[in-house]
Amino acid sequence: MSGHTDMVLVDENGMRIDGRTAEEHRPIKIEAGVLHNADGSAYVEIGKNKVLAAVYGPRECHPRHLQNPQKAIVQVKYNMEAYSVSDRKRPGTDRRSIEISKITAEALEKVVLTELYPRASIDVYIEILQANAGTRCAGLTAASVALADAGIPMRDIVPAIAAGKADGNVLLDLNKEEDNYGQADVPIAIVPSTDEIVLLQMDGNMTRAEFDHAIELAVNACHEVHDLQVDALKRRYSKNQEASQ
Ligand code: CDP
Repeated sequence: MSGHTDMVLVDENGMRIDGRTAEEHRPIKIEAGVLHNADGSAYVEIGKNKVLAAVYGPRECHPRHLQNPQKAIVQVKYNMEAYSVSDRKRPGTDRRSIEISKITAEALEKVVLTELYPRASIDVYIEILQANAGTRCAGLTAASVALADAGIPMRDIVPAIAAGKADGNVLLDLNKEEDNYGQADVPIAIVPSTDEIVLLQMDGNMTRAEFDHAIELAVNACHEVHDLQVDALKRRYSKNQEASQ
């Protein structure tokens, strides 16, 4: 997020480098139940981002000192594969992946009925196979579907998407160039039934009016992402029904 480039990110007609208007998100594809050996799983593509989420549990929480006698804990491991970015990423955990794992777990804990499973752990693995900005949102979107696929009771399914600012324009769902050279990036996730915001971060600067507009764009798009999450789960459910007949 440098805010400086000679590259034109938004042209005089308001078109972005990938042909989108300011208020358009990238194409989104969501599939539920893509892995046999996990309790629940999902695959999400948002533009060039490709993300896999797998869920195990609820199961006994290890290490035991993390157990909560009142409720389950949600443990998230966000991992960006070495081959997911153009310059090979050093494999393994870094500060960024620890931060993203933490904020993802906090967002999911807002909807999972953790009180039903004292001392248990619900483990969520997010693998970024290909990255092009917006991976924390794609990861959270996939993780929510994987939790539902695992049959874990939730108040709602959480969708996430970012809005931001580049070349002075408020834009929905920044791509890599807009994220790198733009002026602000605001990933958000909501509980669709109440519009409660369960994840909100901000990198860069915007005016108050721009921020309000970015939130409005992202909340509206979150509802679209939610519809796609529900469709994916319905397709998964009807496939299961067919297989059991
Ligand atoms: O992916 P997200 O937008 O949630 O997080 P970010 O930290 O703002 O990263 C933006 C993008 O930078 C990522 O999606 C990757 O495309 C890229 N990136 C990278 O190339 N190498 C890294 N070590 C981290 C991020």
